Amino acid sequence: MPAKPHASADIQTGNQDEFLLETQQAPDTPSKSPKPASRKTKSTTRNSRATGDDAQILSYRHADKRVNNPEVGMVTPATDPEAGKTKWAYDPHLDPALGFDPQRSQIETLIDDALASGDSDQMRAALEELKRLQSPYLNWAGKAERTAFDIDIVSLHVHERIDPASILTAVRKAMGAKTKNKDAVKGLQPGLFDAPFESLPLRDAIDFYRHERGWANRLISGDSLLVMNSLLQKENMAGRVQMIYIDPPYGIKYGSNFQPFVGKRDVKDRKDEDLTQEPEMIKAFRDTWELGIHSYLTYLRDRLLLARELLNETGSVFVQISDENVHTVRCLLDEIFGVENFVSLIPFAKTTSSSTNSGLSTVCDYLVWYARDAHKLKYYQLYFEKQLLGAGGGAYRKARDKIGRTRSLTIREIENFSAQHDEWQIFRLDNLTSSRPAGDGDVSSIPFQGRACSPGKGTFKTDKAGLSRLIQAGRLGLAGNTLSYIRYLNDFLVFPISGLWEDTTIAGFAADKQYVVETSAKVIERCLLMTTDPGDLVLDPTCGSGTTAFVAEKWGRRWITCDTSRVAVTLAKQRLMTASYDYYDLKYPQEGLKGGFIYKTVPHITLKSIANNPEIDTIYEQKHPAIEAALEKLNQALQHAKAPALTITEGGRKGQALDFSKGDTLLEWEVPFDYPKNWPATVQDALAAFHSCRQAMQTQMDTSIAAHADQETLYDQPAIARDKLRITGPFTVEAVPFPSVKSLDEADGPAEADTSIARTGESGRQHQWRDELLKAGIRGKGGQKLNFADLEPLPTDDGLQHLHATGHLDSGERVVVSFGPEYGALEQRQVTNALTQAGNLFPLPKMIVFCAFAFDPEAAKDIDALRGITALKAQMNTDLLTDDLRKARAHNQSFWLMGQPEVEVRKTKNDQYVVEVHGFDYFDTVKGELISGGKKKIAMWALDTDYDERSLFPHQVFFPMAGRGEGWEKLKKNIQAELDESRLAAFHGTVSLPFKAGDNRKIAVKIVDDRGIESLKVIPLD
Ligand SMILES: C[S@@+](CC[C@H](N)C(=O)[O-])C[C@H]1O[C@@H](n2cnc3c(N)ncnc32)[C@H](O)[C@@H]1O
Repeated sequence: MPAKPHASADIQTGNQDEFLLETQQAPDTPSKSPKPASRKTKSTTRNSRATGDDAQILSYRHADKRVNNPEVGMVTPATDPEAGKTKWAYDPHLDPALGFDPQRSQIETLIDDALASGDSDQMRAALEELKRLQSPYLNWAGKAERTAFDIDIVSLHVHERIDPASILTAVRKAMGAKTKNKDAVKGLQPGLFDAPFESLPLRDAIDFYRHERGWANRLISGDSLLVMNSLLQKENMAGRVQMIYIDPPYGIKYGSNFQPFVGKRDVKDRKDEDLTQEPEMIKAFRDTWELGIHSYLTYLRDRLLLARELLNETGSVFVQISDENVHTVRCLLDEIFGVENFVSLIPFAKTTSSSTNSGLSTVCDYLVWYARDAHKLKYYQLYFEKQLLGAGGGAYRKARDKIGRTRSLTIREIENFSAQHDEWQIFRLDNLTSSRPAGDGDVSSIPFQGRACSPGKGTFKTDKAGLSRLIQAGRLGLAGNTLSYIRYLNDFLVFPISGLWEDTTIAGFAADKQYVVETSAKVIERCLLMTTDPGDLVLDPTCGSGTTAFVAEKWGRRWITCDTSRVAVTLAKQRLMTASYDYYDLKYPQEGLKGGFIYKTVPHITLKSIANNPEIDTIYEQKHPAIEAALEKLNQALQHAKAPALTITEGGRKGQALDFSKGDTLLEWEVPFDYPKNWPATVQDALAAFHSCRQAMQTQMDTSIAAHADQETLYDQPAIARDKLRITGPFTVEAVPFPSVKSLDEADGPAEADTSIARTGESGRQHQWRDELLKAGIRGKGGQKLNFADLEPLPTDDGLQHLHATGHLDSGERVVVSFGPEYGALEQRQVTNALTQAGNLFPLPKMIVFCAFAFDPEAAKDIDALRGITALKAQMNTDLLTDDLRKARAHNQSFWLMGQPEVEVRKTKNDQYVVEVHGFDYFDTVKGELISGGKKKIAMWALDTDYDERSLFPHQVFFPMAGRGEGWEKLKKNIQAELDESRLAAFHGTVSLPFKAGDNRKIAVKIVDDRGIESLKVIPLD
């Protein structure tokens, strides 16, 4: 087990660095409480959006720092050497399976030691341990054997620095338009674009991991285990993450989890054409699914173990899973996080009806929620608005008017309630008793309206003094004979959300999906709001289409997310780049996001807050004598006028007729609200005076009750700024470099002993690939073909492990071959090393051929730029990896020559440049053809107009495949209104906007096809 990383002590408070974005302004009324008790909780903060001249487009920035992990252009074997592996071991104390000894010898030792100690604490611990050792546990094939595992320590290389604001600058409306506010500039806010990514001086930048740089969120392409290990080992991020959301493949129908094309969401399990073509995904597929549920559980257990290390002690992990494996996942989490840290199992609706015809339809998935430490868990309660006749509000069926008259409402009246809101206060009679034992001050009977009321089998929720205040404040009523609490709807307009989420299917959601297994944003949003604050760090190691990153960005949290699939990363990148959000005003702008937002609050009047409010007594003492006097006058007037008898409708004398001529008098609660028709007019003033005194006291009581109410914060309802629009902040796109080709001793040998291979140390796969290459040659476009006359393994004992074969073409030229890794892209380091090794050969080869299932774009660019030797890229057909996974092989060609992306640069009259992409070689895996130069398959292309050789910083980004309402058209309409329509339209094409040459006088163009495969071309200007 690696040394337990210590959690950062200041993680909650953060540092107080100055907030970077100067344009953020203090809100007008930072501490003003919202208006109390209005029925619509949303309406008070959702200001109507003003667009137009004063609108600013901003993004949130974080004052935190991150270590300077390498920018890909600066990586060499010397600057970023390989760093070995981390050994991770399971803690046997967490897992009874590992500790259980069938011979019971361990148990006996435990008992003996405890007895010998004579120490009661040790004996107690031994008993607890014994109990745990006896508890059942989940076991699966290979679990007990795998007590430890190694993970390569890799660097995460920064490939792209994306700042949507910088990109949109190119398409903003022309400057100089008149603005109402002189300081605001039409369109995007200047200053916002200042150095979203600072360029560290070369010496510091190359000194990886020793310096810090400003925070930018992170989208990482790579296996979650490698990514999490790198965050822990290279970046010391143990304890830094507040919330982890994991939505792994569910461990069923595995093939349908991998979407092979950006635009193809209809993916079927075990269908050849839907099988992923990404080597990393094929590995993920094999790792997780080859042994069915057994390998799946191992896969998940390893990742959960690392996830736990990354979590802050106050943090939470949510695992999304379906009913097929919820039980096994819960056992796994019990094991890794501890039973005591289980927080909740939340079923959430995913669909309204299931398409399966047989049996009960499955309409929900589950969130399994564990805390790193349940005692320290950061948790914020979220609330739903009460719905009259519905959730949280169904019992509110009575109303009291301004005068104090109460009655039951009809359904129709309730449906039309808002119209009567000012006249009526809607309420319910609620339980006044609890099952707590009676204590000092509690009473078993209380007089109310001339009756003795008892709490039945329970105890009144408050003591005698509290009950008396509730009576004085007019908060008690009778439900039949039961004394009850009068709870107004306005006392608390919301109710706490529970652990059953039925509202998480969204109408039209399926149509909006960008990814086959996309999670509803509402689900992740809720998890995030319950467990994090603005500025906290959120991690999703199963990014998919980037829902967690999107939600985290929306709510001002920092995020890191990763996925092995390039298709997923491409979708997530596009989604984040083109997203827009409301701008939530910061509570303390000088503190940045860590200071939080200005949230709406709602009053929360409780029985307790009334029972404990001493002002009630004072108001009663002051105001009640006047009521008593008014009542006396009323009774005198009734007697004097010899008013006809009145039948009592309330309280202990209900049903009795009072005869005023015989001296009967009304008690306070018996006084009618409506003037009885048969009473003489002379009593009218006295009745009005009585009610006026009573109302005066009630008004004062209500004011005091409101003033003593708690306020609950609605964390999902921050105040929205009217004059600001928001887009995604800066983020980096990173990748796990595949650990370079296997070294001699690590390479898998062939199944049968083969002395020639044993001598060279090449892997079984390379042996097979080389034979195939010799047999099939390399096919080019238009029927061209490169044939080999001979091809032999190279002896690797003199440091030639990056070259795997040598031979001759038919034409007689000497060739060396370097094969990329089995389950990853061939990356830069291999190009550098292979080239150095080729240079040491005698005689020097004429040609070097790099064969790979995928090329890292930087590596491909380097190969394209090689001088002094002919360097070729040959794409390998993934059939070579997936023969056993397919039903049939589509075609026989295994190696294809890949050209460079076709990019044209034109100079315009006014010394500007325009770039046009014509396409790139596209290997059609279904047809088995190499298609040339097509523009149709370009999912996205990006142009860095001033390439600094470190990493790509796109100034213009294009989505040629985007349909209506997609790509940049996803930006909110009010943001689009700030942009130049025709320039924005160009961002969906293949010709760039004109640009000036930058200081580096070099541009870079990255093209991404619909399978997420990238090619990069660097072109000097002039
Ligand atoms: C169910 S999807 C997540 C979908 C996501 N919640 C969303 O809203 O789009 C699971 C994702 O995990 C990815 N994945 C599978 N194995 C992985 C691994 N070992 N490392 C990283 N990602 C992996 C898959 O490529 C897939 O995109």
